[in-house]
Amino acid sequence: MSTTATLNTAATAPRRMTAPAFRARKRAEPLVMLTAYTARMAELLDPHCDALLVGDSLAQTIYGLPSTVPVTLDMMIAHGAAVVRESRQALVVVDMPFGSYEESPEQAFRSAARVMKETGAGAIKLEGGQAMAPAIAYLAARGIPVMAHIGLTPQAVNILGGYGARGRGEAEYARIAADAAAVADAGAFSVVIEGVVEPLAQAITQTIACPTIGIGASAQCDGQVLVVDDMLGMFERTARFVKRYDNLAERIQTAARGYADEVRARRFPEAQHLYGQT
Ligand code: KIV
Repeated sequence: MSTTATLNTAATAPRRMTAPAFRARKRAEPLVMLTAYTARMAELLDPHCDALLVGDSLAQTIYGLPSTVPVTLDMMIAHGAAVVRESRQALVVVDMPFGSYEESPEQAFRSAARVMKETGAGAIKLEGGQAMAPAIAYLAARGIPVMAHIGLTPQAVNILGGYGARGRGEAEYARIAADAAAVADAGAFSVVIEGVVEPLAQAITQTIACPTIGIGASAQCDGQVLVVDDMLGMFERTARFVKRYDNLAERIQTAARGYADEVRARRFPEAQHLYGQT
C-alpha cells in the first residue's frame, strides 16, 4: 500500500498574482490595488484586487499615530503576515517603514529579506526616487521585487512640510519625472505615483516601461490604489482625491447606538441568544 498522499489543490486554488505578472499588465486592463492591514479585511478585498498593499498608512488607520514616521518593521511584518494568511489570489505588497531601508542597499536588503521571509509577501514597496535607485537595483538583483513610490511621499512629511500636491512647479515636475525614470530603470516592477498633477502622471505613465499606480494622480495611470479606510468612509476628513464608496463610520455608530440602547433597556440578549439547559 502506498503511503504517499497526494494533495490535489492545483485544480481548486487560484494562482496568486506575481510581481512579473503584475508588471506585464502595463497598458492592458487597469490594475486594482487597495490597502489591507488585517486578516478578515484581506479576505474580503482579495477577490476584487490585483494587489493588496500592507501600507504604512496603518500608522493612522490602525494605530492613531500622527504620521507614518513612527512605524516599525515589526509592525509591518505582523500585519503583512496576517494579510498573506487570509488572501488567496492578490499580490501582497508590504511597505518598508521609515528608517528601515534608506541608509544603504545592504540595510534595505536586510530589512526587505525579513519582510519576505516572515510574511510570505510577494513584494515590498519603498518611498523615494533617484536616491533610492541603487537600493532598488540591489534588491531586484537579489530576488526582491520592488514597487517604488514617488511624488508625494508621506514618510518625507518633515521635509515636504505637509501632504499637498507635488509637481506644480517646473523644477519639481522635472525632478519627479526623473525620479520615475530612475526607479523604473533600476528595476522597480511598478511605481506608485501619489498626489501629482495629471499631466505629470500621464507623461510618466507613457514613458516608463512598468505600470504606474495612481493615488491622487488621475485615471491616466495604469492602475489605482486607495487607502481602504478612506474609500469605505471611516474618516470624516480625507484628501481631495479620495472617493467614498460607503459611509462605514456612520453605519458603525448606528449599530453601536442600537446595541447600547438595547443593552440599557434589557432588550438584548433575547431568547434566541441564550443557551438552553440540556
Ligand atoms: O501606506 C500607504 O497606504 C500607501 C498608499 C497611500 C499608496 O503607501
